[in-house]
Amino acid sequence: MSDIKTAIVTAAAGAGIGAAIARQLAADGMRVIITDLHEGRMVKLSEELSRVVGTECPWYRLDVSDHAAVEDVFNQVAGRYGRIDVLVNNAGWSKIEPVAEMSLETWQKCIDIDLTGTFSCIRHALPHMIAANSGSIVNISSISGWEMTTEHGAAYSAAKAGVMALTRVAAAENGKHGIRVNAIAPGLIYNDFLRRIYPDDFFDGYLAKKAFLDRLGQPEDVAHLVSFLVSEKAGYVTGEVYGVSGGVHPHA
Ligand SMILES: NC(=O)c1ccc[n+]([C@@H]2O[C@H](COP(=O)([O-])OP(=O)(O)OC[C@H]3O[C@@H](n4cnc5c(N)ncnc54)[C@H](O)[C@@H]3O)[C@@H](O)[C@H]2O)c1
Repeated sequence: MSDIKTAIVTAAAGAGIGAAIARQLAADGMRVIITDLHEGRMVKLSEELSRVVGTECPWYRLDVSDHAAVEDVFNQVAGRYGRIDVLVNNAGWSKIEPVAEMSLETWQKCIDIDLTGTFSCIRHALPHMIAANSGSIVNISSISGWEMTTEHGAAYSAAKAGVMALTRVAAAENGKHGIRVNAIAPGLIYNDFLRRIYPDDFFDGYLAKKAFLDRLGQPEDVAHLVSFLVSEKAGYVTGEVYGVSGGVHPHA
């Protein structure tokens, strides 16, 4: 069995939150296994993480909406390293269509990736965590699961609200096994892809009108909270959803 903690991060090869979480957990000294739908940047990131941790941090191509493929990858990881200590469910997808015009395909794809994909990863990590009587899971939800945000669409909002409910029940069922399950609800977190899809003045307007902290959220802002939630310092924290929005969507 590997003598260092093993973490799986889904959708870690994108431009945003997943890669930042992978880098943070590697900096925390964990072997980070990155997965994503596309091979894309995974090879480079895996090499970078392996250098930081000083041991192999492999990558797997994985569509989280493929239940059997998730089982296969998680069993491979557990077989290779003997442990899955941390799981971060970061994979997400959305397409904005008003409900009155939304295709069943859009609805189903969003639920399949954002909600069922999160379920599948939890489902196939838990047997390994239960056997070890220890583990920590963090699900990346969204403020759209709490609040009405038409710019994200109904399928995405419903899926992310589902992730919050899934988090609470999975936490309740597995606390007795020493497993903690929490979720994070980010507000707008900047990445270059979003810069391409939002109007030019969106980010400045967003800051001027809304953010208490007078800056945009960065992927590292989410990664730092993940780092805390999976650490011993959060040993009595489970079944919670934490907002990360710079005060744009306060839930105090
Ligand atoms: N960026 C934001 O403003 C924001 C806000 C709230 C919540 N979130 C959530 O944070 C997470 C990360 O978002 P991000 O914006 O940082 O994007 P990101 O850069 O992490 O990219 C998303 C990744 O998801 C991957 N992906 C898509 N479909 C997949 C599938 N079927 N299986 C596996 N991977 C798949 C893509 O390949 C991509 O790498 C998502 O769950 C998103 O819903 C983001």
